[in-house]
Amino acid sequence: MAKYTIRTMRLDDIDAIVDIQKALVKRSATRRWRKALKVYIETEPKACLVATFKGKPIGFIIGDVKTWGFGMRHSGWIEIIGIHPKHMGTGVGRDLGKRLLRYFRSMEVDGIYTAVRWDSGDLLSFFKSIGFEHSGFLNLEHSGSKR
Ligand SMILES: CC(C)(COP(=O)(O)OP(=O)(O)OC[C@H]1O[C@@H](n2cnc3c(N)ncnc32)[C@H](O)[C@@H]1OP(=O)(O)O)[C@@H](O)C(=O)NCCC(=O)NCCS
Repeated sequence: MAKYTIRTMRLDDIDAIVDIQKALVKRSATRRWRKALKVYIETEPKACLVATFKGKPIGFIIGDVKTWGFGMRHSGWIEIIGIHPKHMGTGVGRDLGKRLLRYFRSMEVDGIYTAVRWDSGDLLSFFKSIGFEHSGFLNLEHSGSKR
């Protein structure tokens, strides 16, 4: 099979990214989701990557370099990754992840982070495979109640 290529994301990729997301989570992206994607592409263009096969996006990863957050000068965060189910398990995720990690290192970040739901075994295993470990942060959650 011909190999995919990786490049930075463009605004005209949004429809295809939304299709991949829909194939993964089985529901359509909200307008807010699309808008957030646009903001990331415009503000952090080198951290928004897409893998294409025959010119069509088959996977994506979005990162963010935060300044001053969480007690660090600069830190890299992987916000979301999604590979179209037809192309999973072919190394696309690994290559996207490694390329984003290279970008974070070029930005001289103090640390690189992400968060994964405890029962997302595929994502946990994936992040471990590209070098992530249990972090020193404690995740806190508020129910949103007025308590
Ligand atoms: C997890 C995910 C990012 C992995 O990407 P991928 O291209 O399919 O995986 P790769 O071929 O690059 O695999 C790299 C490593 O990740 C791990 N891995 C990947 N898929 C896995 C799975 N389903 N179960 C366990 N480990 C997995 C393996 O360690 C693998 O290394 P190996 O092939 O040497 O065993 C991808 O399957 C995905 O997008 N899953 C859905 C994520 C999601 O729900 N995102 C949010 C909604 S948009």
